[in-house]
Amino acid sequence: MTTNDILSKDILSAEGIKTYLDITYSQLQPEVRSIVTSTNTLAKEQAKAGIAEGYVLLADAQTGGRGRLGRSFFSPSQTGLYMSIVLRPAQWTAQQTTRLTTIAAAAVSEAIETVTGQHAPIKWVNDIFVDNKKVCGILTEASFGAQDGFTEYAIVGIGVNVYTPEDGFPTELQAIAGAVWNTLQANGKNRLAAEILNRFMRYYTSLCNNDTSTDYIQAYRKRSLVLGKEIRVLHGDTSRMAVALDIDDDCHLLVEYEDGTRETLSSGEISIRLT
Ligand code: BTN
Repeated sequence: MTTNDILSKDILSAEGIKTYLDITYSQLQPEVRSIVTSTNTLAKEQAKAGIAEGYVLLADAQTGGRGRLGRSFFSPSQTGLYMSIVLRPAQWTAQQTTRLTTIAAAAVSEAIETVTGQHAPIKWVNDIFVDNKKVCGILTEASFGAQDGFTEYAIVGIGVNVYTPEDGFPTELQAIAGAVWNTLQANGKNRLAAEILNRFMRYYTSLCNNDTSTDYIQAYRKRSLVLGKEIRVLHGDTSRMAVALDIDDDCHLLVEYEDGTRETLSSGEISIRLT
């Protein structure tokens, strides 16, 4: 049996995912396609066209998977989980909407731990690691009303390296990318997708019902790879050593530099290297 034969036994399907979805979240409508450009791009088109909250587009492969900061996201067939969730949070500001990424990171980390039994910490801002290798990235995109500034829709895109690709990761990713499993798991992708969705929806609905809920950030903090650690903060070409002190409810990172000064870092403007 070849690797290809083995991997083809763990097949992603809408029916398979629904088997593991919590009945509470039956409004979720997963659709699985074989190959797409980017699930985020297509989900965004559907959202623009008016599709309801809870539509989830998943694909076996992406030809133009997109990452944060305009990067691409390597999305080979059979070995990954690529999915985008359409949300329509009522009267959420842009600031509230940034919490979706934090929720997704906590949900993915917990889901990997539950389904695989492996520790899956979160490297600020939103990368999930297993065995010191990145196994998941998250890209949240949103559209805001021109009049009121509230969120019209948001797309939470989650990409997981479930298995190592047959030909390995491309050279530039080899040192940083890893996979969730080394061996084939029966229904692994369907179980993992459903567990992520169940956990994501639990945090999301709790936040929709009570804006002050901090369950999601507590879960995130508990799994943080950086809190209490010495880190290197990179600003363009320069870098400074610091200690990561805290993560606030909006997922900003409070750091203290060696000279005692403190800074609150927001996502996107820096990268962090664990020392
Ligand atoms: C990152 O690590 O920079 C974020 C990667 C996000 C990738 C996912 S895969 C599903 C969805 N569709 C995309 O094109 N991107 C996201």
